[in-house]
Amino acid sequence: MSQFPQYRPRRLRRTPALRRLVRETTVDPADLIQPCFVTTGSAVRRPVGSMPGVFQTSVDELIADARTTAELGIPAILLFGIPDAKDERGSSGWDDNGIVQQAVRALKQALPDLIVITDVCLCEYTSHGHCGVLGDGTVDNDATLELLARQALSHARAGADIIAPSDMMDGRVGAIRSTLDAEGFHDIAILSYAAKFASAFYGPFRDAAGSTPRTGDRKTYQMDPANALEALREVRLDIGEGADMIMVKPAHTCLDIIWRVKQATGYPVCAYHVSGEYAAILAAGQLGWIDADRALDETLTSIKRAGADQIITYWATEFARRRRNGEL
Ligand code: PBG
Repeated sequence: MSQFPQYRPRRLRRTPALRRLVRETTVDPADLIQPCFVTTGSAVRRPVGSMPGVFQTSVDELIADARTTAELGIPAILLFGIPDAKDERGSSGWDDNGIVQQAVRALKQALPDLIVITDVCLCEYTSHGHCGVLGDGTVDNDATLELLARQALSHARAGADIIAPSDMMDGRVGAIRSTLDAEGFHDIAILSYAAKFASAFYGPFRDAAGSTPRTGDRKTYQMDPANALEALREVRLDIGEGADMIMVKPAHTCLDIIWRVKQATGYPVCAYHVSGEYAAILAAGQLGWIDADRALDETLTSIKRAGADQIITYWATEFARRRRNGEL
């Protein structure tokens, strides 16, 4: 490699066009997935206090938002349900007339080309807010598997394109895969929240989804953020059980994990830029401490550079709008 003064890296940084010409990583709206929170009723649009720009909407408003998202070139949304009723076992989660099921049917009818991914977990539907059923004061892994599979099957029947289990029970990808296959849904893909850490950055989401655990925390099922090798084991297990795409979550605190998972597997790696990561940037922006728009663009670029193929982000639609308006 030549040295200064023959080599001057600044030569290629002189103008916006030159910088664009040699840019190694670009984020495209086609890489992004927009999360949405759907609730019952009609004409409902409730802002989530801790997540500026994010709303709980009824199905009619969801369709309007999803249409905008799709028109801006974003291929997929990720759906979370906020049901009217919760119980110990999360039975509203597998009700064929549940809120997610209604939303999926309406979305596939109105916007057949938009990919609908459904989050599969019990925490949005259980009265105690844990991701599985309780037994002996802890979350009972094996008893939860059948309920997750039921919920996944119900989403598939409604027309979901991709099922995304986020509960972190052992063996759930296999349980869901075999149930879907047995019912003829072998073409429905599984995006597994494979490396999901017990993170402090999920706080605003739990406001949005009303899913904060009543007691305790999620540390007996979600991973210790200190563990990268264990993340690789989790990923291998899920691939072995039939996962088609692998998720790493959170994203910004896990750039090394994204890189390692991509290198180790070559599978599609989807990174979830989670609620707290998003909210922290917007809050600092509101205080005038950072330029939130630029910080978000830089963050998404870093996640992509680390090896993510897709990014789930609350900024997806806004990013695409800014791109369309020539602001990026
Ligand atoms: C449900 C689930 C959570 C998130 C996605 N699915 C919350 C949790 O595990 O507590 C978090 C998403 C975010 O923070 O944006 N299990």
